Amino acid sequence: MGGADRVDGISVGAYPTVRMRRNRRHAWTRRLVAENTLGIDDLIWPIFLMEGEGQSVEIAAMPGARRVTLDKLAAYVEPAVRLGIPALALFPATPAGKKDAEGSESANPKNLICRAARLLKQEFPDLGLIGDVALDPYTDHGHDGVLRGGDVANDETITALVRQALVQADAGIDIIAPSDMMDGRVGAIRAALDAAGHSAICIMSYAAKYASVFYGPFREAVGSVGTLHGNKKTYQMDPANTDEALREVALDLAEGADMIMVKPGMPYLDIVRRVHERFGVPTFAYQVSGEYAMIKAAAGHGWLDGERAMMESLLGFKRAGCAGIMTYFALDAARLLHGGEEAGASFS
Ligand code: PBG
Repeated sequence: MGGADRVDGISVGAYPTVRMRRNRRHAWTRRLVAENTLGIDDLIWPIFLMEGEGQSVEIAAMPGARRVTLDKLAAYVEPAVRLGIPALALFPATPAGKKDAEGSESANPKNLICRAARLLKQEFPDLGLIGDVALDPYTDHGHDGVLRGGDVANDETITALVRQALVQADAGIDIIAPSDMMDGRVGAIRAALDAAGHSAICIMSYAAKYASVFYGPFREAVGSVGTLHGNKKTYQMDPANTDEALREVALDLAEGADMIMVKPGMPYLDIVRRVHERFGVPTFAYQVSGEYAMIKAAAGHGWLDGERAMMESLLGFKRAGCAGIMTYFALDAARLLHGGEEAGASFS
């Protein structure tokens, strides 16, 4: 400490010689000392597909996010490819007529996801495709597996998930992403992929997926909101737990997971941090539909600057240790980043 210790006769103690504010003084010093940056390479864009023709429908609780028919898909996706977004995650809105108790449409080699994957691989061979593996978009009860005695049956569900993973892999999906939370499904899917000659296909495991209210708008988007009976608390994690997340991750890694997903995102950054520190594996987070909806709604009311809230929230994922972020903001964020403004510098 140094300098005067009296101002107008009042003792104020010594002035600081260590001044943290020096490094914050200019936009260029802030850029120079920034510990984390967000880039287009960090973004995964989840998109929703629907049957039919000529349609692109906005999802009510997710302004800006749409459900598109396959004839509109290439045009919808092209801006993301042009900006260099590395990968898309595909989700289907299955018409009620194709849903049943066992979610059998999930294993149809010509289902919406498989047709979309074939089409996208042909149009954009260098674009990564992530296929969600879980039965909920296909079951008439909205659960992620088959129901037996009022609960989701673990091992029977695994058989269905393996079939689903195989048709997706055959259709050109590069990363199989089980989001169902059954025990042992990563090992079973890995073995089946390898046996089918798909040993190069990655598994991104939703190892720590919480039973969360923030999935609400997504359930509207895939059409399971009215159909879901009860809740998913017997298979998705309790939001109270963190040690349990580490056990989930350890098991999935032992079974062969290549990448780990934590979900939801913003309320669970502590989980991202612990997983990344403990295991040092590529750790991703899903900024889910409800998180997107919150920011969009506040921005829509003029209560928040939506663009800055988007960029600050995404940078927060990087700070927590994420290799990348699955977010409905991916295209908007990529557009901003492409404009030459890194998130850390754009608020100067
Ligand atoms: C289910 C699944 C869910 C989401 C992705 N896959 C919701 C659920 O568990 O009910 C939610 C994603 C989001 O809210 O954006 N397999």
